[in-house]
Amino acid sequence: MTVEEGYRKRYRSGDIPWDVGRPDFNLTEVVTQRPIPGCKALDIGCGTADNSIWLAGHGFQVTGTDTSEIAIQKGVEKASEAKVECDFVRIDFLANRIPGAPFGFVFDRGCFHSFRSQQDRSRFARNVAAHLEGAGLWLTIAGNADEHRQGPGPPQSTAGEIVLAVEPHFEVLSLISSHFDSNHPHPPRAWRCLLRKRG
Ligand SMILES: C[S@@+](CC[C@H](N)C(=O)[O-])C[C@H]1O[C@@H](n2cnc3c(N)ncnc32)[C@H](O)[C@@H]1O
Repeated sequence: MTVEEGYRKRYRSGDIPWDVGRPDFNLTEVVTQRPIPGCKALDIGCGTADNSIWLAGHGFQVTGTDTSEIAIQKGVEKASEAKVECDFVRIDFLANRIPGAPFGFVFDRGCFHSFRSQQDRSRFARNVAAHLEGAGLWLTIAGNADEHRQGPGPPQSTAGEIVLAVEPHFEVLSLISSHFDSNHPHPPRAWRCLLRKRG
């Protein structure tokens, strides 16, 4: 089963623990504290779009993309309820160019980390760079392999795997050990990694 099929199956069964019903604090902190000014933004693997909707409410022109029809449909409904404008496209990010490029800001929470081979991670990073304008920013929130856990949880990457995948397209502005926003009493550890497209 491909990564995309696996997620589609999980949305169908409702097994979606990452879907916490609010924007992730890692996103809201980075955008407000750095700050990142409003611009065209792409949310890759947007899921049911809580992060896209937050960005749209904070001055960004947002495109959310996902391969799950259920997730996109839910995102459309939530954006309508929140009375914000977002463009949603059901497209495989790894295989297609997303309409609206180039973007000034790319965000993903839990999409990049889903690709487990170094080759796929590098391909993902190269595609992000191809969708960004010069010096554009990419914030990725990814499972952190420094958490030694028993049982289920998000895919995990080492700091080295992330850095290897994003070179030579990005410079690492920050790579911080954090945790996912979660409804679980012990939130999974995460990397909060802010990158800037080179040259
Ligand atoms: C862990 S979920 C996170 C969803 C959302 N970002 C959130 O934080 O709630 C990863 C998402 O990536 C999507 N995805 C996986 N592969 C994809 C691809 N090739 N192109 C676009 N979306 C993809 C999945 O369908 C899923 O919604």
